[in-house]
Amino acid sequence: MARFTTLASTALFAASVAAQSSTYVNPAVPTGTPIAGDYTGALRPQVHFTPPKGFMNDPNGMFVDANGTWHLYYQYNPTGTVAGNQHWGHATSDDLYHWVNQPIALFPPEETVYVFSGSAVVDSNNTSGFFPDQDNGVVAIFTLARYYDDGSPGPQTQNIAYSRDGGYSFEYYEGNPVIDSTSTQFRDPKVLWYEDHWVAVVAYSQEFTIGMWTSPDLKEWTFASNFTPHGLLGTQYECPNFVKMPVRDADGAVVDEKYVLAISIQPGAPLGGSVTEYFIGDFNGTHFTLSDAVTRLTDFAKDNYAAQFFYGVPDGQNQVNIGWASNWQYTQQVPTGNLEGWRSAMTAPRVNYLTEAPRIGLVMVDEPYDLTPVLDSQLNASTFDGEGTIALDYSSVESGALYLEVNVTNINMTQLTQYSTLNISFASPASGEILQSGIYFGGDAPFFVNRGGIKGFDNVFFTDGFSIADVYSTGSGDGLASWSMKAVIDRSIFEVFVDRGIHAATVVFYPLQPLTALNLAARLPSGAQVSVDIWSLKSTWAELENQNGTVSGNTTSGGN
Ligand code: FRU
Repeated sequence: MARFTTLASTALFAASVAAQSSTYVNPAVPTGTPIAGDYTGALRPQVHFTPPKGFMNDPNGMFVDANGTWHLYYQYNPTGTVAGNQHWGHATSDDLYHWVNQPIALFPPEETVYVFSGSAVVDSNNTSGFFPDQDNGVVAIFTLARYYDDGSPGPQTQNIAYSRDGGYSFEYYEGNPVIDSTSTQFRDPKVLWYEDHWVAVVAYSQEFTIGMWTSPDLKEWTFASNFTPHGLLGTQYECPNFVKMPVRDADGAVVDEKYVLAISIQPGAPLGGSVTEYFIGDFNGTHFTLSDAVTRLTDFAKDNYAAQFFYGVPDGQNQVNIGWASNWQYTQQVPTGNLEGWRSAMTAPRVNYLTEAPRIGLVMVDEPYDLTPVLDSQLNASTFDGEGTIALDYSSVESGALYLEVNVTNINMTQLTQYSTLNISFASPASGEILQSGIYFGGDAPFFVNRGGIKGFDNVFFTDGFSIADVYSTGSGDGLASWSMKAVIDRSIFEVFVDRGIHAATVVFYPLQPLTALNLAARLPSGAQVSVDIWSLKSTWAELENQNGTVSGNTTSGGN
């Protein structure tokens, strides 16, 4: 039974929705005004999006509009800190770090029909006919999941809603559903534009199949093809994402373009619970053809699920994604719920393209989106020849958030010893807690993150350590290798981008006391050039607080 309550997959979700549905009170959810939140809690990330209160899971409907405003919708239970009662929460940002909470964008049509995950597009050419007088109309396409009185799941169908005010408020289309079904496991449509038509990818979750559908107008959909079981199955496929991405060479020049099909699997990930895998290939408007037989994972830790790519990034440019920084194995137990009244953060925004990595071939690179708007002061800029240490007390950084870059060049591989390492830790001198990360440059070059020294959350599935073997660049024949990493730490979330972003990890952690002491130690052969830059990050939420510490969101009428 303990196991049942700990595991929260959509398969088991029916039970939690059933338990919630008897207490579902729509009148408790405000309409037309955002939900206020207290973002001052010690565990609240300050440069990441978190909901004002309640429970958040998958990012939904993400698009960037013609003014450069980024729209993030999300699976949202506004009345509890566990999953259930799904709405689409909404927030907007001009830089992907400063978020403004908006009124809830999509409400369930009926008490026991939930608005599950989906996507949104800007229908600038009015293909749908909903927008005769405007070019900024938004159409959301999403799953409606019905639950019966006894808690058993009913059909999951695909539906649309349109917004004439740029994505702030939506009307349900009267011709719904646009893709009907009797299946209880058919969900999470993601739409893209291909040359002259719309394409939707939808998961037949328990058949491990991604259906591809086409449409001229977002209303009439025609089945086009199926992507049948591939890669890791876990026990369900969820939240497919399909996007065209540039392929860049080592100098950053675009040399090709490919399609990426990302599939989130849950439960049953190799490390437990939820994970996202992706496939690389070509698309002809109806069929996706794989470039190779390789299954790749977006993350080497446990806390990045159901990421979505923004619609509206100009053709040919790098893509941008945000993921849900959690795992269904423990997301409903993490201490932010009881201590601070909210659960789940989104990842930092990431820039994505494909590139050839040494030995392993094409991979999707993940880099933090331009952090300039949140960089505060540079706390440290050091260079070492081979060996060096940094001890930084950052207790005076109000946000508690840091950005860190490490670049190592001129590594003479023949001189590596068993001590050739670079270690970085973040500690609380008050509680003795420690979050560790580092790389051993020899052998398999494992990069690791260990949250086992953080004491605020204990759960058998909340695994301590994660690692990846990194075949870093051995240079151009001179035997001198180089390596780099970037990291963001933000109170209860650590994200690291290893070796130019070829590997990435998202790790949530819940300290009893804030982490305030950074220690870095580089031990490399002499001649290796190590440079380290550390910045404090601004608190994006503190800028929005009133005198009581409350963030109210956008309370002006109309949302804009
Ligand atoms: C993935 C998921 C989706 C579903 C949503 C419900 O985390 O299970 O498949 O649409 O969450 O909140």
